[in-house]
Amino acid sequence: MDQQEQKVAAAQAAFEYVQDLINHWGEEIVIGIGTGSTANLFIDQIAQIKNSISAAVASSEESAKRLKSHGISITDLNSAGTLRVYIDGADEVNENLQLIKGGGAALTREKIIAAASSEFICIADESKFVPLLGKFPLPVEVIPMSRSYVARELVKLGGDPAYRSGVVTDNGNHIVDVHNLEILDPRKLERQINNITGVVTNGIFADRPADLLLLATDDGVKKISRS
Ligand code: A5P
Repeated sequence: MDQQEQKVAAAQAAFEYVQDLINHWGEEIVIGIGTGSTANLFIDQIAQIKNSISAAVASSEESAKRLKSHGISITDLNSAGTLRVYIDGADEVNENLQLIKGGGAALTREKIIAAASSEFICIADESKFVPLLGKFPLPVEVIPMSRSYVARELVKLGGDPAYRSGVVTDNGNHIVDVHNLEILDPRKLERQINNITGVVTNGIFADRPADLLLLATDDGVKKISRS
């Protein structure tokens, strides 16, 4: 399977998982949905069962638009309460289901929805599974006026920050991508970066990792639970 076929397989597995949940609960549920090419494939799949989904909370304007185009209602997280399940992709994932996210600049809303969900399911192709996080440049969302200050502080933490030129997040902020980090302690670095004044959040998902990884490989989709 090439990477695209693996993304389709992971999205299909998540669709089946959600379908089983709905059958088990016997009622319509509100689900959280992420951003990116793998999440888009999942959105296209769940259009088949849109009548069983009362609404979705989307992690980006882009995903909200795609959901609406399939006739799936969007609701606001403030009215939805705790979500039963959140489905999203990742840029990197390790064996502890800690992630790097934000390649699509949606990291802050993704982190909020993950925090507000009972179960977070990550869907990914095999290329995303890594022994050590950090090869993928770590996205950091910053308040625009703090960008240079935050970049100087990130250098002190050992990274090489680069401004993602021309990108404005759905929250009106900027993205700094941090290259050349070897993330040996993801929880510690997540907190250290979040403590820099001007940082909205960073793309390490370690305090709230995924609960289940649906990892598409040439041998099928592996279900890896957080131990
Ligand atoms: C969006 O901001 C990201 O966190 C995505 O979840 C991540 O970039 C994965 O995207 P793909 O599914 O397109 O690889």
